[in-house]
Amino acid sequence: MRNLFLLAAAVPILFYGVAAPAWAGDPIPSPARQSELDYMLRQDCGSCHGMTFKGGLGSPLLPEQLEGKSEDALADVVLDGIPGTPMPPWRSLLTQPEARWMIARLRRGLDQ
Ligand code: HEC
Repeated sequence: MRNLFLLAAAVPILFYGVAAPAWAGDPIPSPARQSELDYMLRQDCGSCHGMTFKGGLGSPLLPEQLEGKSEDALADVVLDGIPGTPMPPWRSLLTQPEARWMIARLRRGLDQ
């Protein structure tokens, strides 16, 4: 019984103590997070940039439009928004690697 209790206490400690920092520094979001980001792109970003990213209130975000622009600069736009325009900052919801992942996803074309 006592051993079982120790095991129950040790598993979460090992899980968070060992696994979490490894993920925190990982530039590639976990598969579960990737599907959340994908959903966010379509629902939240798509509400301004168009369901097919051909543009709406926000500029088009198709691969052609993003070509030649720096991935880091575009990720900064996502994190900080563009003051004076409706483009809001997403820093409270996204990390830099997640913003970069979204940009890479848009660059590849969302339907690929
Ligand atoms: C409330 C509307 C709105 C929402 C929601 C929104 N955007 Fe924007 N976004 C804009 C507007 C407007 C611009 C263009 C601003 C300007 O330069 O006039 C823009 C610009 C951008 C740019 C720069 C494009 C370029 O060619 O330089 C990127 C990248 C971008 N948005 C990504 C996103 C992502 C990713 C999301 C979701 C996390 C998002 N936006 C959500 C309105 C929005």
